[in-house]
Amino acid sequence: MTGQKIRWGILGTARIARKIAAALHACPRAELTAVASRSREKGTTWAREHGCPRVFEGYAELLRCEEIDAVYIPLPPHLHAEWTEAAAAAGKHVLVEKPLALDLRQGLRMRDACVSAGVFLWDGVMWYHHPRAARMREVIRQGRIGAIRRVTSAFSHLWTSPLPADQEYRLNPAQGGGSLMDLGWYCVGASLWAIGATPRAAWGEANFVSGVDESFSGLLSFPEGITAGFDCSRNLAARRWLEIAGEAGSIVCDDFTRPWNEEKTRFWIHDAQGNAETVNCPVANQETCMITACSTQILEQQWDRQFLELSLQTQAAIDALRVSSLEHRPVDLS
Ligand SMILES: NC(=O)c1ccc[n+]([C@@H]2O[C@H](COP(=O)([O-])OP(=O)(O)OC[C@H]3O[C@@H](n4cnc5c(N)ncnc54)[C@H](OP(=O)(O)O)[C@@H]3O)[C@@H](O)[C@H]2O)c1
Repeated sequence: MTGQKIRWGILGTARIARKIAAALHACPRAELTAVASRSREKGTTWAREHGCPRVFEGYAELLRCEEIDAVYIPLPPHLHAEWTEAAAAAGKHVLVEKPLALDLRQGLRMRDACVSAGVFLWDGVMWYHHPRAARMREVIRQGRIGAIRRVTSAFSHLWTSPLPADQEYRLNPAQGGGSLMDLGWYCVGASLWAIGATPRAAWGEANFVSGVDESFSGLLSFPEGITAGFDCSRNLAARRWLEIAGEAGSIVCDDFTRPWNEEKTRFWIHDAQGNAETVNCPVANQETCMITACSTQILEQQWDRQFLELSLQTQAAIDALRVSSLEHRPVDLS
């Protein structure tokens, strides 16, 4: 670490890495130090476009560099476990993209590798770190909506890959493809985040196209009759809905994964009489919020493990939902 900054390296020139590069430049506690690519040429072009001073050919080369403190891993999901474990063995802190892993077994291995190496591990879900999430949490804690009984969420968009199908990991089940892993991750995570309990059972129904779920509907049931329902899809209009319903009212958000307009980030509190209060939240960029949270926690060596626990619970629920959809039966999670 150089004084008060974490020196970050990025593994792969992924599309999402553009946003993280901008966040690393915006965060005073972080520095974009290097990028690694399978192709030096690709890495060099990316580095030039994103103000990145160093390029490595191959991810292992970057992990060997002593001037890197932490790595961001936006690789396809089937590579998350391998490169998180390699990063931990090299003593680097890790921010790995969602979904955490292909399954819980891999996720637990990643956690163990990072814990025994004494390094940080979070997944890359950004909205948890935007001040809006803290504001929602406060509304829940104040008892404004009463005891939570039901969470409903949806994440969808109309998508066709720009790549030939055999090169697109989102269409390859062995590489972590499908809408449940890609989009459902957010809905399941939001449900667990809001309810704060472990689900007892999972039920899932998928529409499979060429081996991957193009759309998925799921139901998680929790103790005391609390339930969470969601749908995610790549063949529907863009939706980012979240409703957290309690006995006295509900929180409603129409863009929970990413504000439609960063300048107007808000949600609503609906009461039982039909009144809706708009809660306007501070303007913030969620990538910068996440990078700032990680960098600060690494610098201060005070790691909030709740997000890693949330990732592992999300993974466990996703695994159960997938089995349920394949075997057409509810899956016990208790
Ligand atoms: N948190 C969020 O908001 C968010 C948003 C979008 C995506 N994501 C997640 O971020 C990850 C990356 O998504 P993306 O859509 O940005 O990925 P992408 O553009 O397809 O890039 C993935 C990168 O991984 C590297 N790579 C290594 N082996 C590969 C292989 N066998 N096939 C394809 N790429 C390979 C490539 O970099 P080099 O060729 O340079 O080595 C490639 O540029 C996924 O886990 C995804 O779920 C998160």
